[in-house]
Amino acid sequence: MRIVKYRFKCALATVTALTGLVFLFVSIVEKFQSCVEDMPGIWENSEDESNRRCSDLFYRTLNLSAEQPICPRIIKGDHTAVQEALSNTLDVSRKKNPLTENHYLNMTKDCAAYIKERKYLTFSLSKEERNFPISYSIVIHDNIEMFERLLRTIYVPQNVYCIHVDRKAADSFHLAVRAIVACFHNVFVASKLENVIYASWSRVQADLNCMEDLLQSPVQWKYFINLCGLDFPIKTNAEIVRNLIVLNGKNSMESEVPSPSKKERWLFHHEVKNELSRTEEKKSLPPISTPMFTGNAYFVAAREFVNHLFVSPEVQKFLKWAEDTYSPDELVWATLQRMPTVPGSNPSNSKYQMSDMAAIARLVKWSYLEGDITKGAPYPKCTGAHRRSVCIYGSGDLHWILQQHHLFANKFHSEVDNTALQCLEEHLRYKAIYRKGLM
Ligand SMILES: *[C@@H]1O[C@H](CO)[C@@H](O)[C@H](O)[C@H]1NC(C)=O
Ligand SMILES: *[C@@H]1O[C@H](CO)[C@@H](O)[C@H](O)[C@H]1NC(C)=O
Repeated sequence: MRIVKYRFKCALATVTALTGLVFLFVSIVEKFQSCVEDMPGIWENSEDESNRRCSDLFYRTLNLSAEQPICPRIIKGDHTAVQEALSNTLDVSRKKNPLTENHYLNMTKDCAAYIKERKYLTFSLSKEERNFPISYSIVIHDNIEMFERLLRTIYVPQNVYCIHVDRKAADSFHLAVRAIVACFHNVFVASKLENVIYASWSRVQADLNCMEDLLQSPVQWKYFINLCGLDFPIKTNAEIVRNLIVLNGKNSMESEVPSPSKKERWLFHHEVKNELSRTEEKKSLPPISTPMFTGNAYFVAAREFVNHLFVSPEVQKFLKWAEDTYSPDELVWATLQRMPTVPGSNPSNSKYQMSDMAAIARLVKWSYLEGDITKGAPYPKCTGAHRRSVCIYGSGDLHWILQQHHLFANKFHSEVDNTALQCLEEHLRYKAIYRKGLM
């Protein structure tokens, strides 16, 4: 009798304990779920007590904090911290080997584990962001780690990402990109891949291939942004959405009256052999009534702009004409942006001149323009290194970069200054979750 009673008590205790555990588990899951649903909107106050508890909950599992806690000081522009970080980048023994294609092939065998380990955001952080999907075209040819860190920082489940891999890239690179992409429902490799040759039409065609695929996507994205492998965002997805809403249907890109030397770029027929070369054959005049403008390859455009490229005979004729020019990527978008029939464009009038610094698409520091702002330079000196006259940012650039209005900055490279990249990753993730930065 006593034994039966004892057994009964024991069973009861076990059941109670198990029920307790289940409740605890359910309540944690529920708490997480309610946090996901109640995240404050872009314009809402995040200081609210329950919002802060949700943010803490997310940040514990999703932070991208660097190993050394130096980032908040670097972001704030603390001179000592910046000097320390810059001298560390010169120390070869501290250099970390970048993740290789094999690493990614291995990691992505189990997608769920990969997404968790690399701390991807798997839910939208606000209703505004959910209601404003963005499409991306990312054109790459090497450096798998830089690509993956870029993707991780801009990735949110409601956006859609087209990756154009240069056809001549190494097989191992193609395989690793495809392995990463296969872990996400909203990331894909372009259906047509170009052999991208410097300054040739292929660079434009790569973006056009992605645009065509993106227009077919079930995601009703509202804006399009193109990127390359060494770009990095300097805004969170919420901030990007806010900026795009403010554009109010307009595109944003560099578009300026060409210099005399740039005008030569469309006077002669160019040919692609191993590289692009100019021929003696003269080209016809542009088949449009708008004058020509120049800018750069990177832009922010409304969906209507992208759609118009494929349905307008006028634009199709212009693109066809531009195929044999020198660096058409630096003239077609800038010119389309000033044609009155093109959605989101501005008039060709000089009132609408827009420099790269005035547009929000891309922040770039050209070595020959760097200098003392108090003496009229557009930006301070680069603290990293230069490649083809463009600054690859160092830790000392971050504080200034984060005060600019651009959505993305070019270039970052882990082999030039990995601390700069880590601090940017940490700052953006912190800001995505707490709605305020480390500044
Ligand atoms: C950041 O994430 C790590 C796990 O990767 C965790 O141990 C740490 O406590 C987190 N930091 C904060 C401030 O939540
Ligand atoms: C592949 O991953 C497993 C664990 O997931 C690890 O033990 C192994 O060392 C990895 N191999 C390589 C080559 O990275």
